[in-house]
This record gives sequence, structure tokens and C-alpha cells, in this order.
Amino acid sequence: MKKGPVIAIDGPGGVGKSTVSQRVAESLGFRYINTGAMYRAFALAAKASWVDFKDDLNLQDYCRGIEIDYSMETGRITIDGTDYTDSIRTDRAGELASKVSTKPSVRACLSAHQRVLGEEGRVVIEGRDIGTIIFPDADVKIFLDATHEVRAKRRHLELVNGGHEASAVSSTLEERDKRDSERKEAPLKMADDAVLVDTSELTLDEVVQKVLKIVNERLKVGDTGR
Ligand code: DC
Repeated sequence: MKKGPVIAIDGPGGVGKSTVSQRVAESLGFRYINTGAMYRAFALAAKASWVDFKDDLNLQDYCRGIEIDYSMETGRITIDGTDYTDSIRTDRAGELASKVSTKPSVRACLSAHQRVLGEEGRVVIEGRDIGTIIFPDADVKIFLDATHEVRAKRRHLELVNGGHEASAVSSTLEERDKRDSERKEAPLKMADDAVLVDTSELTLDEVVQKVLKIVNERLKVGDTGR
């Protein structure tokens, strides 16, 4: 049971979900949960432990046996004591996360974790399946989108600014979008009751303001505790 308002923000890669969600959470005085970070850290940890990504049972055993610690205060993520926060932003981590997130056992395991964190309430939680599967009863659901070209540019900039390798961003993104949208388990899909925000022509500030406006219109007076 939710103990307070939950704002669900979904959308494809490179759309700017993390930056927007973080800014919205900050502005509302809510905490922020990045579920993509969990898939990314899980994928890196599983690879480092030589887990076979094709073997669902093996993935299930591995996921059940590890300790995942996601701090809603700092956003840092550790698995069995190893801090993955600084290594999850690479293209390799994104690719591995996209692949491993197609597995039902992994989704079941990480979803349970995400619900426990989100149920605390007063949270902005972002991902691919938040409004559809994780919190179908979220108080506000936003779906951020943008054209493929715009998203590829944003992803390229994000990687370069982070000092990471950024080759073939457009085709990698296309492949990942396809995998995330066409998988059987919890595919990327806008919830029927989500508000679509096309960010293609908007600046970051404009997107944040637009999302905050939608949130403030939908949350009941007093929900933000301000
Ligand atoms: O948001 P991101 O790029 O950090 O996510 C990396 C991958 O993790 C994405 O390609 C699909 C997967 N993911 C998911 O399946 N469900 C989520 N709620 C979040 C991410």
C-alpha cells in the first residue's frame, strides 16, 4: 500500500527521463527512484559473476541471492557491497540492461524491490513499465517522448559529457528501443491514463515546467506537503 503520492515517469531511452525526473522530484521535495539504474547495476553484477543471461533459472537464483541497496537519498546503488553508481552510465551497461530486462525472473525480482521503495510515497519513479506494471495506481503518470533523432542527439551528448565512448549511438538506441518495446514481459508502453509529453521541441526547463504543471493539477491539495 502506498503511504503517499507516487509520480510515474516512463519513456524510451535518450528522452531525458532521469534529468527531468530528478528535477521534478527536487522541486516537489519528493525522493527519486531510477529503475533503469537497477537493471544496469544488476546486469553488470551478473556479468561479473559469469551468470548466463540465457538461463532464466540461473538469473533467478542469482537475483534472489544478492543484496541490492538503492539509496533514495543519494541515488547510489550497490550490489553485495560493490558500488556500481559510477559504472552504470556506459553504453555497454545500457545494452546489457536492455538484454537482461527481457527475462521474466529478473523483472519479477527487481520489480518487487522497486515497489517496496516506491510504496514509501512522495516519490518520483522513472522507467519503462512504472505506470503500466509497477504502480498502475500511481497518482500521476507521465510518458515522455521525442523523435528518434532528438533522442539520439541527447544520448550522444550525455555519453560524451560523462566522458564515455559514444559511437553508433543512433543504431544502438534504435535496436534497444525495439527490444524494450517488443519484449513479452512488461514492454515499454504508455499507460492508458498517462499524459503524453512530446519533448522534441522543448528545452529541459520547459519539460520540467510542463511536468510540474501536470503534477500540480492532478495531485490533491496537501499531497505535496507544502
Ligand atoms: O532507463 P535506462 O536507459 O537506464 O534503462 C536501461 C534498460 O533497462 C532499458 O533499455 C530497459 C531496462 N529497463 C526496464 O526494462 N524497465 C525499467 N523500468 C527500467 C529500465
